[in-house]
Amino acid sequence: MKKTVTLLLVLCAFSILAQPSQKLLPLIPLPKEVKYLDDIFNLTPKTKIVLVNDIFKPEVDYLNNYLKINYGFDLKIVSDLPKEGNYIIITQPDFEAGFLENYDLTMNQNQLIFIAEGNAGLFYGIETLIQLMPLEKIVDGVLGESQLKIQCEDIKDAPHYQWRGMHLDCSRHFFSKEEVKKYINYLAMYKFNVFHWHLVDDQGWRIEIKKYPLLTSIGSQRKETIVGKPAWDKDGKPSKDDKYDGNPYGGFYTQEDIKEVVTYAQTRHITVVPEIEMPGHSLAALAAYPQYSCTGGPFETYTKWGVSDDVYCAGNDSTFLFLQNILSEVIDLFPGKYIHIGGDECLKGRWKACPKCQKRIADEKLKDENELQSYFITRIEKYVNSKGKQIIGWDEILDGGLAPNATVMSWRGTAGGIAAAKQKHMVVMTPGKPCYFDHYQSKDKKTEPLAIGGFNPLDSVYAYNPTPKSLSEEEAKFILGAQGNVWTEYITNFSSVQYMSMPRMAALSEALWTPLDKKNYKNFIERLKIHSRTLDKMNVNYAKHFINKK
Ligand code: ACM
Ligand code: ZN
Repeated sequence: MKKTVTLLLVLCAFSILAQPSQKLLPLIPLPKEVKYLDDIFNLTPKTKIVLVNDIFKPEVDYLNNYLKINYGFDLKIVSDLPKEGNYIIITQPDFEAGFLENYDLTMNQNQLIFIAEGNAGLFYGIETLIQLMPLEKIVDGVLGESQLKIQCEDIKDAPHYQWRGMHLDCSRHFFSKEEVKKYINYLAMYKFNVFHWHLVDDQGWRIEIKKYPLLTSIGSQRKETIVGKPAWDKDGKPSKDDKYDGNPYGGFYTQEDIKEVVTYAQTRHITVVPEIEMPGHSLAALAAYPQYSCTGGPFETYTKWGVSDDVYCAGNDSTFLFLQNILSEVIDLFPGKYIHIGGDECLKGRWKACPKCQKRIADEKLKDENELQSYFITRIEKYVNSKGKQIIGWDEILDGGLAPNATVMSWRGTAGGIAAAKQKHMVVMTPGKPCYFDHYQSKDKKTEPLAIGGFNPLDSVYAYNPTPKSLSEEEAKFILGAQGNVWTEYITNFSSVQYMSMPRMAALSEALWTPLDKKNYKNFIERLKIHSRTLDKMNVNYAKHFINKK
């Protein structure tokens, strides 16, 4: 009797395991709806791509290129249904609903069907298909044919949030154009659609501006770099305890490099948002052009971490002309809607002591230096708006009054984002916890590389819900989404960028794409274990705490 029950239980367990719903899919982020189908689509070099509408040619080329590089396949593109053999077909829905990032992907033995209204939707469908492809092709012994055996699924997918961003600080440490493209590949794999490129800061100016060549000849260089953590002395003078490496450091992107990266991102449906910091975080620019500071300098590009006292002078009209000329070139390079103007951590000491800044406060009837900061940002916003673009800035742009059309990036917690949404301004959430990937991901500091501090593990990132509960339904509509930030004071090379951002980037992608009721951390970890083989194949140096449990 006992034996029979045991056997029944085993059979029962087996049949449950064999149920389609129990299948673990190698997909990150998890699609909105997936049904497992009991069929296999054999993708071979003879499979054809049926392209009915040429608008999708760029995405089809992307897929074909991927197949060529990874498996040596070069699929034929045709416009009519083939009489024999299997095929991939790209179609559009019967009516336009305006959901340009949505896609359906369904398959059987003979057909693999994409339905997408927009190019972005098809692109995301292709990224899903790529994740379903085995890492290695097999050669069928009978047919002697190279094959990718793809488990059939029926997928209906759509993103939860419209801003799915990742940031990279290329000022504190410089990452080459090729490394930035690799980073963009990771974003594409996880269906992010914004790359926030932090191009300037106190420690280095990294974008060529033709009108101001000293920004790169002087501002992109620093004579050395602090070793480890600075003493954070209050008077801004070097501390006896601070040690420097004595190695000159520098690098910048030419405008041709920038165009190449922007085009590369565009092909992957990623908008690049450049960040040009002002009025603070500007010492590298002031080292090159000290006349736009309050004191006149001279300055050196910052060699330590932290925030410089010296900032742009808000009382000097020529400062605004300088910044507008810079922004004019920046705007021409970046086709996206947003220009990030920084706005964070502007120390006000210089403004307090500067006769020109004080005269501006008096002339404009401003209450204090916070309102002077608001004057500064609003004046820049007018210029940016006149060029047809929007500004986005860190949540300090709320201090002293928000510029009329500004979007707020909430980083000092979520209070700034909540306040902005209540004022009917668009918001991108990026609170330090859990969106700063320069924080530690394990408490085992003996084995972890030096990080900025704080503890921000994978499960916290995964659990993140960018929409604060305190917002009403109407107010919540102003939350565009969220973003992960990778500040690089202690991230000195690209392998460390990979380590700090992966797999937290994967976890954030699911917090931004997958419907709340479909999220499940345990299931994510199981999928991540499968997916980690892809990261291995890509030679990504990812953190393995989800395997080692340390
Ligand atoms: C920031 O982390 N200073 C925006
Ligand atoms: Zn001043």
